[in-house]
Amino acid sequence: MHQDHLLSATQLSREDIETILDRAAAIETNLDGWEAQYSGMVLGLCFFEPSTRTRMSFDAAMKRLGGRTIDMGSVDNSSISKGETLADTVRVIAGYADVIVLRHPSEGAAKLAAEFVDVPIINAGDGAGQHPTQTLLDLYTMRENGGLDETTIGIAGDLKYGRTVHSLAAALTNFDVRQHFISPESLQLPRNIRYDLHESGAEVREHTDIKPVLPELDILYVTRIQRERFPDENEYQRVAGQYRVDTDVLSHADDNLTVMHPLPRVDEIAPEVDDTEHAAYFEQAHNGVPVRMALLDALIQGAK
Ligand code: CP
Repeated sequence: MHQDHLLSATQLSREDIETILDRAAAIETNLDGWEAQYSGMVLGLCFFEPSTRTRMSFDAAMKRLGGRTIDMGSVDNSSISKGETLADTVRVIAGYADVIVLRHPSEGAAKLAAEFVDVPIINAGDGAGQHPTQTLLDLYTMRENGGLDETTIGIAGDLKYGRTVHSLAAALTNFDVRQHFISPESLQLPRNIRYDLHESGAEVREHTDIKPVLPELDILYVTRIQRERFPDENEYQRVAGQYRVDTDVLSHADDNLTVMHPLPRVDEIAPEVDDTEHAAYFEQAHNGVPVRMALLDALIQGAK
């Protein structure tokens, strides 16, 4: 991959994706065997929003590659609380770290940060914008569960504010994938994303109900309603809990359906689904380590 930064899934070609996924698969065969790889390298973790999976799997990935991590910690305990700008913050951290992972509530924050530093910036989520590293592990999980081509996926939940959806939908246009989008009308895909999908020639359908489309699906990708992005709590309450995938819903699905979710979940997948053959969301979260090891490897090699 010849990229300085990873800011959006729209940057990724099919070849880029396959190179990273192949490398992740090789890494995963011997996850403990890479500690000599990047001894002395430092990864800066800058999370302006909460995270469990992305922060910890990047931390684990860098350490498994032999490097170290430094963590900005919470916004309240950093000098951002004194009014420091994002530009100044990343300029300073670029002097401490060889790669920066950035999560921020504002769409476009990673792109802005990349203009101020010479080290690679990885977008770990920018508001309702993009979450490209989640997409890489989603694609890895899809590939491990039936493949990426000749696949039909249903993406359900918050398509308006869900950054994992925006990244995944764009990346899937590199493959032969039929995309069904299932959401309440008020949470449909933003117009610009729908336009980009149309321009790329993607086969896209939109629905408000899961059940009629479920039997056609190879993958059901469920997302949380992003409560923190709603400008109005009443608007959230109107759509909260509209989709709940449980074993009754799944009785309408193909036996081989794979259920994915970027996590965290609230109540959109019933715990009873965890014990079925359909559930792939914990495997998906675990795939974050080898996939992020492969991505760090690609960006560090590219920056040399
Ligand atoms: N999927 C994901 O981004 O999870 P976190 O918010 O816990 O990082």
